[in-house]
Amino acid sequence: MPNLTTRESWGTRLGLIFAVAGNAIGLGNFLRFPVQAAENGGGSFMIPYIIAFILIGIPLMWMEWAIGRFGGKHGHGSTPGIFAKMWNHPISKYLGVLGLIIPFIVLVYYVFIESWTFAYSVFSLTGTFQDYMTLHKSEGSSELLLMKNFLLGYTGVESQPFFSGLTMAWSFLIITIAANAWILYKGLSGGIEWFAKWALPLLFFFAIILVIRIFTLDAIPGVNGTVWQGLGYIWNPDLTRLWDVDVWLAAAGQIFFTLSLGMGSIHAYASYLKPKDDIALSGLATGITNEFAEIILGSCIAIPVAVLFFGLSETITIAQGGSFNLGFVSMSVIFNHIAYGQFFGFIWFFLLFFAGITSSVAMGLPIVTFLKDEFQFNHKKAVSVLIGLTVACVIPVVLFNKFGYLDELDFWAGTFMLVLFGAVETILFVWVFGMDKAWAEINEGSDIKIPRIFYFIMKYVTPTFLILLLGAWFFNSAWDILIYNKSAGGGNVVSENIPYITAARVFIFGFIVLFCSLVYVAWKRYGKKEVKS
Ligand code: ALA
Repeated sequence: MPNLTTRESWGTRLGLIFAVAGNAIGLGNFLRFPVQAAENGGGSFMIPYIIAFILIGIPLMWMEWAIGRFGGKHGHGSTPGIFAKMWNHPISKYLGVLGLIIPFIVLVYYVFIESWTFAYSVFSLTGTFQDYMTLHKSEGSSELLLMKNFLLGYTGVESQPFFSGLTMAWSFLIITIAANAWILYKGLSGGIEWFAKWALPLLFFFAIILVIRIFTLDAIPGVNGTVWQGLGYIWNPDLTRLWDVDVWLAAAGQIFFTLSLGMGSIHAYASYLKPKDDIALSGLATGITNEFAEIILGSCIAIPVAVLFFGLSETITIAQGGSFNLGFVSMSVIFNHIAYGQFFGFIWFFLLFFAGITSSVAMGLPIVTFLKDEFQFNHKKAVSVLIGLTVACVIPVVLFNKFGYLDELDFWAGTFMLVLFGAVETILFVWVFGMDKAWAEINEGSDIKIPRIFYFIMKYVTPTFLILLLGAWFFNSAWDILIYNKSAGGGNVVSENIPYITAARVFIFGFIVLFCSLVYVAWKRYGKKEVKS
């Protein structure tokens, strides 16, 4: 049985808030959010986004903190063990497997993208983009196209001699995984918390410098666009697409991803709280910090500056051209045209790297916690297993990226399953465990009084919203993607990609089976009793 006396704990309350905010603030805030907003009509995206934040984001944030702290009291920091304590039924621990495989699968492709941000920060400093442009200038392509080709070459989607195959990509990936491993090896307070305490302020500082620089840039001759127009596109309320289900799905999906909800990682962080530690104020503070990074800083960088340089309609087209077009492609063109662009480019990509790493370590923690709590592994051994698994599973992500493998993982694990897991945990917590007990858990040790209306929101509105969302998602896109009618990355499925898309599904399914078996073995071996508390 788990040993409660040896569980680690967070160093300070502020450190904990930094760590959980670092968990939430990630590539989603600065790369995914602007693309989602631009693709879904700007002002018409923000209305469902804010509604989803209030009706799903905040309630689930409190619930996940409470579920995690509840689990920690019983010596479980990953959802199989926690769910088994919440619901005295043999199936409950298997439902919790979702909270292990989702963060892990997101981790294996997220860490690859994170390594691009590190690479791009080095490329900015060393003038590699300019070298590439000089080399290809004679082809007569636009700078946007050249930088798009640069990304395709670097990530191995196109083979280009400039990058000597995937050598560069592998090198940056290895350093990125090593950095994650190092932080995780150092432990909860000495690694994750310590790193977040200086990475997060630095990240905010970098973002504020960029915002100031962007909003003081002069107009670009011949371009009909201003930074204010870009900001207005996101913030001016627009009711025209309010009835479009896709906009609601995109907004709710973004809330899940950006707040790291439905992943199992907040549970793991909260399981290291003390039984009477506040969660109401801390949970709210992390949610608000994340939203500050997303809708204030995130909305003031990529879109406004793209509108200034390319105009509004071209910016929307850039965003529609793929998730990395705005953050990587257009930003590297823009930095090439502003004074001290190499420095500003460096801080943009380095802030992304910091944002990424404080989130990816959080995605690794559930499996580490699971191995420690349920298999009595020591910390170093648990981290080593996680890193070994990550290295093995990231190989196909890199090699098959060009065949839609990464997009497939992102759709199922990084989008659909987040909502699925969010719905499962909400139903389990508010209906099976019981809303009165759930409310008492959330309010235990609380430093603020949560308005009573959230009792009803959590009991009725959040689960209903999530079930509707799941249904709409399934029929609107998941089904078509499942039967290969549509590709997870958008557009039609290329027949050459089908084996790789199928391989991504086999990988996900394989991990579900693997972790269900591990749960079975752990419960059999250590004779865990599913006692209702
Ligand atoms: N919440 C993390 C992000 O936004 C996963 O990137």
